[in-house]
Amino acid sequence: MKITLSIIKADVGSIGGHTKPSERMLARARDRISEAVERKLLIDGMVTYTGDDIALVMSHGNGVGAASVHGFAWETFLAATDEAREAGLYGTGQDLLVDSPSGNVRGAGPAVAEISFERDPRSKDRAAEQFLVFAGDKCSPGAYSLPLYAVFCDPMHNGGLLLSPKLHKGFTLTIIDMNHASASGDRVIRLDVPERAWDVACLLQNPDRFAIEAIHSRHKPDEQVVSVSATRLHNIAGTYTGKDDPVAIVRTQGIFPALEEIVEPYLLGHFVTGDCRGSHVMPLMPVAIDTAVAGAYCLPIISCVACSMDPMGRFTGETLDVFGNVAWDATRLKVQQKADEWRRQGFIGPTMASHAELAYTGIMDTLSGLEREFAHRAEAR
Ligand code: 13P
Ligand code: MG
Ligand code: MG
Repeated sequence: MKITLSIIKADVGSIGGHTKPSERMLARARDRISEAVERKLLIDGMVTYTGDDIALVMSHGNGVGAASVHGFAWETFLAATDEAREAGLYGTGQDLLVDSPSGNVRGAGPAVAEISFERDPRSKDRAAEQFLVFAGDKCSPGAYSLPLYAVFCDPMHNGGLLLSPKLHKGFTLTIIDMNHASASGDRVIRLDVPERAWDVACLLQNPDRFAIEAIHSRHKPDEQVVSVSATRLHNIAGTYTGKDDPVAIVRTQGIFPALEEIVEPYLLGHFVTGDCRGSHVMPLMPVAIDTAVAGAYCLPIISCVACSMDPMGRFTGETLDVFGNVAWDATRLKVQQKADEWRRQGFIGPTMASHAELAYTGIMDTLSGLEREFAHRAEAR
């Protein structure tokens, strides 16, 4: 049976600032998911939050980009927006950037990660299905570049690339140029690793422009292991309306890397663009699912939930909150300390985002005003 896993996420309002959605918003989304399962649009569904973003985690038989599922997600975010508006919450409907999207919500504001696969309990390679759902807040899709590079291209981080003959065959990475905004389509490149790993590195060096959108197995080229929501809100809105806050699906085990290999790079707390006003560079903190943002200068955060799927495409009713585990407590402390030290540098240089990112913020008005005040001073002879 062909199953599609769709994660669709949006910020449609939050309490007291960019912190977390309200319980009533979440309850409204959960009710709608239950109804959709009852009327068989969805096979199963979950609602989670990471900071101020609500993620709808859905399995169904309608394929990638299905208008029915995307339309359902959009309507669910509208219903949650109504709840937020009634309660006077902040930033209502923030990520719903068009009036009503035609079918697919990719490019309309919400973050979308989707993978379709054959769910066959008799399959030689994939009798059972395991996957991770990542959700980042206060960051952009390039936040996944370092961890995914480490896992799929670097045996110093992922020994499985040496130990498993199926992983050793390598992967095909699809990298998207997120600056390319065209109605006629996306600009993407497909590179095989390990052969092209350094070419991949050259692109990923710029996480504000290039991001990994998909990864496929080279052992089984039809099998997609990773999907990332690699779209930039400022390219859709033309101005800063909030950060992209990307979601990702990573399938695990068997022909794919193991859970413990995939999460290893998050020990670092690497620096990403995002944070307060989406305009800073700060370290990424792994957090439990359903964590609010309440710290100084936000801190970019990421959650990770591990799931299994039964032969009918249902989630097993029980999930594992990976970053909620005690194993990540020391990392959280380290990342907070790293952030505190870094913030002491204020606004000068690399603590703020690159000028390409700041181009969507108000600092540009001041800079262009100052441009006019500059005068040429002739060299004294
Ligand atoms: P979000 O993108 O999570 O809404 O945060 C926006 C922001 O500007 C926080 O300072
Ligand atoms: Mg927000
Ligand atoms: Mg957010």
